[in-house]
Amino acid sequence: MPPLSLLATFLLLISLSTIQAWDCESSCGGITLNSPFGSASGCGSSAFQPYVNCSNGKLLFYSPTGTYQVQSIDYSNNVMVVIDPQMSTCSSMQLSGAFGLPIGAPFSFSSYNKVVLIGCSSTSSLYSKQSCDTSSEAQQLCKSIYENCDGISQIGIVATSSTGSASSCCVYASSLLATAPYEVDLPLLQCSTYTSVYHIGNIQSPQSSWLYGIALQYNPSSSSQSSPSGSGQNPSCYVCQEAEDSHGSLALPSRVAGLLLVLAAIISLPML
Ligand SMILES: *[C@@H]1O[C@H](CO)[C@@H](O)[C@H](O)[C@H]1NC(C)=O
Repeated sequence: MPPLSLLATFLLLISLSTIQAWDCESSCGGITLNSPFGSASGCGSSAFQPYVNCSNGKLLFYSPTGTYQVQSIDYSNNVMVVIDPQMSTCSSMQLSGAFGLPIGAPFSFSSYNKVVLIGCSSTSSLYSKQSCDTSSEAQQLCKSIYENCDGISQIGIVATSSTGSASSCCVYASSLLATAPYEVDLPLLQCSTYTSVYHIGNIQSPQSSWLYGIALQYNPSSSSQSSPSGSGQNPSCYVCQEAEDSHGSLALPSRVAGLLLVLAAIISLPML
């Protein structure tokens, strides 16, 4: 009966696309998910899946040094900002561990970042290896943090307006940040903590005009397999496209649910 099989095909297609949209979220934790990001395995670009997914309503970034919440994604500049829970900000300082990027991942430190290492010992290798930015802007950043941030006392440093106080502060040289894989390991560098600032408004107002977070540049076209090109229309349809490309790779539950719907349609049709 041709009309019936047509209806069945139609219902099957509708149910598959609906269920597919459940599997792949279009946003996570308030962040819109567009290509190349996806919420779960099978969503987004396969090159990004091992590093970013949606877990319990939070978009997370996985690295060997830990799991970090994604704060925002700037799709026009290909920048993802993550938060290290052990990182300090002007208002809240704490001892930090290490932050590093996974090797071979399509992420690198963005040139927007100013990574400021705070409370460093004079014997730190930072000084002997000349790893600190010597520009006047870098010196002003350190001075401003030491003078304007109450948080500084939380790590046992006395806030003072004398310039000498900032000598235990180091803004990581941007040339070092650009080399991946890069790791900020505070115990190893003999520093108490660090902060990463990806936007500085007024250098004198670290409390109110600086934006804290680790900005990571990503390469949207990097792929572990060949990913479909030109399919950036709609997040869930990026996935539809991938499913179409690899025939029959839809999850079993989706197919079972689709078949059940079709069966229900076939059974109920004669009663109409
Ligand atoms: C998210 O990715 C991590 C690391 O790749 C993995 O261990 C975890 O199972 C994934 N979770 C989901 C919900 O896909």
